Amino acid sequence: MCGIVGYIGPKEAAQFLIEGMSKLEYRGYDSAGIAVFDGHKINVEKTVGRLGMLEKKIEQAPPKGHTGIGHTRWATHGRPSDVNSHPHTDCTGKFVVVHNGIIENYLHIKEKLIEKGHTFTSETDTEVVAHLIEEYYDGDFEAAVKKVLAEIEGSYALVFMTEYEPDKIICTKQDNPLVIGLGEGENFIASDIPAIINRTRKTFILSDGEMAIVTKDSVWVQNRQGVPITKKIFEVNWDAEAAEKGGYEHFMIKEIYEQPKAIRETMLGRLAKDDSSIILDELKWTKEDVAAIKKIVIVACGTAYHAGIVGKYYLEQLARMPVEVDIASEFRYRSPLVDESTLAIVISQSGETSDTLAALKEAKRLGARTLAVTNVVGSSISREADQVIYTWAGPEIAVASTKAYTTQLISMCLLALYIAGLKEAIAPERLKELIHGLKELPAQAHELLEDVEPIKTFAQQYGFNEDVFFIGRSLDYAVALEGSLKLKEISYIHAEAYAAGELKHGTLALIVEGIPVIALATQKDVYEKTLSNIKEVKARDAVVIGLAMQGDEQIKKYVDHTIFIPATEKYLTPILAVIPLQLLAYYAAITRGCDVDKPRNLAKSVTVE
Ligand code: M6R
Repeated sequence: MCGIVGYIGPKEAAQFLIEGMSKLEYRGYDSAGIAVFDGHKINVEKTVGRLGMLEKKIEQAPPKGHTGIGHTRWATHGRPSDVNSHPHTDCTGKFVVVHNGIIENYLHIKEKLIEKGHTFTSETDTEVVAHLIEEYYDGDFEAAVKKVLAEIEGSYALVFMTEYEPDKIICTKQDNPLVIGLGEGENFIASDIPAIINRTRKTFILSDGEMAIVTKDSVWVQNRQGVPITKKIFEVNWDAEAAEKGGYEHFMIKEIYEQPKAIRETMLGRLAKDDSSIILDELKWTKEDVAAIKKIVIVACGTAYHAGIVGKYYLEQLARMPVEVDIASEFRYRSPLVDESTLAIVISQSGETSDTLAALKEAKRLGARTLAVTNVVGSSISREADQVIYTWAGPEIAVASTKAYTTQLISMCLLALYIAGLKEAIAPERLKELIHGLKELPAQAHELLEDVEPIKTFAQQYGFNEDVFFIGRSLDYAVALEGSLKLKEISYIHAEAYAAGELKHGTLALIVEGIPVIALATQKDVYEKTLSNIKEVKARDAVVIGLAMQGDEQIKKYVDHTIFIPATEKYLTPILAVIPLQLLAYYAAITRGCDVDKPRNLAKSVTVE
């Protein structure tokens, strides 16, 4: 989960490299480096720390030249340090490489190269690639890269440069994203689109196993066997502003506020005008297709996993389908009972999460039909899955997922209703009510975001507590899980979510005077039971913040503070209830002076196992 950029053209390469890297810092930010060819030799500048440290380092004398590559790192092999930063070079300094991913057989290669006399300076897996190319180069850069690729195993996006053939940059990928941006007399390379959209909107995405030879005037793509490949060029229609903070202090708060729009866009064109059905043209399933599905497994990580838990409620209760939900890193190693009659749904904002991608491949290997719910067009997961539902949330930059989660919930709800319609598992009138409820959500989310003062006050009041508990039943429990993840991830407060009925089986021992408990009570069918659980924690002198639906006067008698969400359908409450919890986490993090968009030890896109 690092960021890669590359430039070849008439302009100063370093300028674009730094600019592009600043758009990718969310992918990795423990060190940064660039390599630029000055007409005679390649100069490498790199340093541990954020990109700002590198900018400072080169401020007085930025490397000059028109061809260069750059990298922002999130350490995997080897701690963050100057020497472990990319780009990496061979013994002669004539070859440089930047890399995202992991070279799994690097130790074996390293031993072999050391025996041959190579000297290593870093602890990284990447450095073997630079030495391997030195080893294989005999006057043909392209041929040497192919030999390297034949030897390395693992996942990678790799970009190479050499002093011997400075008129080209070579790049290739396996299970890690790489995008080529096409300019006039100049070309760009990046691991993600935001890095290049200020310079060009004409792009294409490299596929696994492809290799691109990029010069200032051309890009040649071929496979490992040298067979030329014609790529489909597409125009990126993202607003450059959309990848910027746009006046907000942090990406996270900007993205929280983008939710009404994001929710609307997720539903765009997918709800019949007369509220009678869900339109998912990307699936075009028949009754027979649905009848062939005997079981659904939902697999994902982190926030996307929490969306999967809500998805299970939707698919079971609305579409009457049996559903299992699993964490991707568990699923892939548990010999899951999956076959041709299984529909495997993977949920991933980035579409690049390594564990989720591996789980998807495992489900495919076992014969399952696969469906990805993802936000990123052209991502590895979107290309690996049989079918895709895009969440259309727009780029999410903050490490903490917010609009990705709400749009994943909408997507799962649409899917459940779509299947329910095909199965005739839902009465047409009920379907209409739910579609009507969906249509009201953007305005309701907007309403919620209009008055955040009480939430700011709670955050200031309880932001310095070391422990916070979230409780809820049914869909409220699923949302509690996400609320607690948000809080711990960005404010570093120890937060736990419990199914409210489970408290008395152990956790109640932790509830003591003054502990904040956020109690979600939006589900009518379990409301009385939740109230009993609230009484249990109140009896231990916890401070309870109740999160309930507008119009619920009863709750006020049992809790210390209340947060109300607009009244909606029971199934749609998670989409609104999570918003105050996101805000609470955000303002608690601000109160504690945390780095909201880049929480410690975390990265946006987890492309390593
Ligand atoms: O890109 P993905 O949705 O696959 O990412 C999965 C998780 O890494 C992600 O949701 C993570 O938990 C977020 N940082 C939570 O805010």
